[in-house]
Amino acid sequence: DRVLVLAGGLSPEHEVSVQSGRGVAEALRRLDIEVQVADVDSDLLRRLTDDPPQVVFPVLHGSAGEDGVIREVLELAGVPYVGARPDACRLAYTKPAAKALLADRGVRVPRGATLPKSVFHDLGAPALLDKLIERLGMPLFVKPDRGGSAFGATPVASPGELSTALVSCFAYGDSALVEEQVQGTELAVSVLDTGDGPVALPAVEIVPDGGVYDYAARYTAGRTEFFCPARLDAETIEAASEVALTAHRALGLRDLSRTDLIVDPDGEIVFLETNVAPGLTPTSTFPMAAAAAGRYFGLLCRELAHQAHL
Ligand code: DAL
Ligand code: MG
Repeated sequence: DRVLVLAGGLSPEHEVSVQSGRGVAEALRRLDIEVQVADVDSDLLRRLTDDPPQVVFPVLHGSAGEDGVIREVLELAGVPYVGARPDACRLAYTKPAAKALLADRGVRVPRGATLPKSVFHDLGAPALLDKLIERLGMPLFVKPDRGGSAFGATPVASPGELSTALVSCFAYGDSALVEEQVQGTELAVSVLDTGDGPVALPAVEIVPDGGVYDYAARYTAGRTEFFCPARLDAETIEAASEVALTAHRALGLRDLSRTDLIVDPDGEIVFLETNVAPGLTPTSTFPMAAAAAGRYFGLLCRELAHQAHL
């Protein structure tokens, strides 16, 4: 086998993706699989067509990775790759669209609204924000409607913080998602399909030390406590796993995904988002969940590479 791991990419999550890619490449090399790692640049299409790898394992997070664009290039080059098709990626990566789809399946999602960056050019903006606050209440959460790793994402505790949160958000994208901040236990449920249909891996409970799972809490070892198995009753964990499987199927995903959820104080599961290229870094929850399920990470990467699709 000759596997090309695509890592890095063009989004703010570049460094995270480099780490994820390193994890996959090292795990595969330990199994004596020939692996190359490449970043996304203007040479990519030539590289894929002049000396095609057997399989591409895209480990690109964020825009031009999880939005399906690079997978369009892989389809164009005719190289089999791991993971979901471009259209499914685009759908999952666009949070309001994914939320609407899950809501249609009867899954609870945070109430929210999207605001375009142009709102700040509108003289009526303050009134608009007031109306939004009236409708959604406090606290809120502001994040780019497409993004990852908490870039541009800010909890909003009081009305006066909303416009600052929006300014931070618009540094990362042209459209903000303003949501009610659902209180409860944060869970990540990874889904893996190595040929026998999608299976939910054990849920990982996330407890960031400062209460907010921001970039530093995600990628600094020791900044977040992870519990796997999660400290919840079996019924709640089962319900969370069902939501992750529903998301994986409804969004039309393949191979692997990770759905992020909140369990509210009544035990109700609230869908936040699904990642088509979940982080595979040493502090990421997908490898943790795989290990808890007794799945050796290298072997599962090999299985995913073997079943790569065109
Ligand atoms: N966006 C990061 C990589 C994650 O969801 O794990
Ligand atoms: Mg994410």
